[in-house]
Amino acid sequence: MIYCEDPELQAIIERVYKHEQGHIFRFWDHLDEQQQTDLLAQADLIDFSLLSRLIEQAAAGKEDKHEGRLEPPEVITLAQREGNDDEARQIGEAALAAGDVAAVLVAGGQGTRLGFDGPKGMYPVTPVMQKSLFQLHAEKLLAIGDNFGVQIPWYIMTSITNNKQTIRCFQQNDHFGYDHENIFMFIQEMIPAIDRQGKMILDEPDHIFMNPNGHGGTIKALSESGALNDMKERGVDHIFYFQVDNVLTRICDPIYLGYHILGDSEMSCKVVHKKYPEEKIGVLCLIEGKLHLIEYSDLNEKDMFATNKDGSMKLWAGNIATHIFDRKFIERENQGGFKLPYHLAEKSIQHLDNKGQKVQSDEKNGIKFETFVFDALVDAKKTVCLEIEREKEFSPLKNSEGENSPETTKRDLIKNYTRWLKEAGYNISLNKEGMPGIDIEISPFVSLAGENLKELDLKITGKEKSLYID
Ligand code: UTP
Repeated sequence: MIYCEDPELQAIIERVYKHEQGHIFRFWDHLDEQQQTDLLAQADLIDFSLLSRLIEQAAAGKEDKHEGRLEPPEVITLAQREGNDDEARQIGEAALAAGDVAAVLVAGGQGTRLGFDGPKGMYPVTPVMQKSLFQLHAEKLLAIGDNFGVQIPWYIMTSITNNKQTIRCFQQNDHFGYDHENIFMFIQEMIPAIDRQGKMILDEPDHIFMNPNGHGGTIKALSESGALNDMKERGVDHIFYFQVDNVLTRICDPIYLGYHILGDSEMSCKVVHKKYPEEKIGVLCLIEGKLHLIEYSDLNEKDMFATNKDGSMKLWAGNIATHIFDRKFIERENQGGFKLPYHLAEKSIQHLDNKGQKVQSDEKNGIKFETFVFDALVDAKKTVCLEIEREKEFSPLKNSEGENSPETTKRDLIKNYTRWLKEAGYNISLNKEGMPGIDIEISPFVSLAGENLKELDLKITGKEKSLYID
């Protein structure tokens, strides 16, 4: 064991050895004083009893307690909604106008699959103006707030890995027009990963590899950062939760808010019909009468391919990760400590060899732990699931190419803007793929879902090289 004169620092060292993680000090003699202090400071933040439980969980392997017991959930379907949304819309609009609603954006993820150098929210996504995800979300929020004479308080979760860059991006862009006092940034927790032997991983001689604790970390971070108290002081009752990557999110959708309120729901979900059984999207289901969400990676083949008597997909309700929470529900979720379960993911993690050289292999050498926000569903006394049309509301940016990539998000934005224009009576010719052949974009300040366009009486000649309507 290594020794330190300072008793407080020595206590940290002893805690690390007690939990059989003393290997993190293997480069100790080569570290300068500052590096030694940094490593100990990082070790001091680790919840070792949680880590021990997670190591045991990893050793036990995945167990599927639910196989064959998953039943379809109750959903307010598109067919049921047809012509019946008015009451919900009015209730949602009243809640927005009364200032009862806040927005929470989770942007703490690492965006590994996209491989963009910077927070994913800074990625340029709009077809003509190349507005970033952050700007697009900010403008939608401002525009919906304008409709109801309010500025919706906006809470943004980052992680230590992207917090500074996110803050700088907002500052450099004058908060995209948002009043500074209505934006509240907060940071989620990090958690160490382990290797196959249950040991923490060094990614620098003086640094333990850690990852953000998953979007479930929002529940804890909202409470610990003071965001929940801030909401309470502002009189916020309902929290619209959305993820950074969906370019089509209907932010603070009044109809959704209305259904949530009408259903006396504590946590609500928007769902789409799964395209095919293996689609990589979480499914909503009932287990013993309670609403659960099973992530695609945890869904076994039997449930994935289960069908109804008529051959249709049994577990069809795919989650688009756009939730509404009641503030009081999040408060209750935090009583007695954070209780969401951790999920394991095998990953390739950069580590150091015995000489301290960095090694990155394709081999999945480690296990990351993450919590999922939808695991809170089981604690909600009442829930609402609302079906929506995928083409109108769901197109996430996940990968650098192929499905859910910059190419598909741009295509889906153009398709939406084009549909709005056509529905407003404009003549836009489409090619074989149903695309207009030019880049089209409509500012959220003009229209959020196709409204207001007819009245504008635009002159569209068909000869434009691109079209930006603002
Ligand atoms: P994803 O699970 O798609 O992860 O996050 P990601 O980080 O964006 O991308 P990959 O998996 O590394 O490629 C869905 C949403 O949850 C947020 C992300 O920022 C995104 O908005 N998230 C995810 C967090 O805020 N914190 C986390 O720990 C994980």
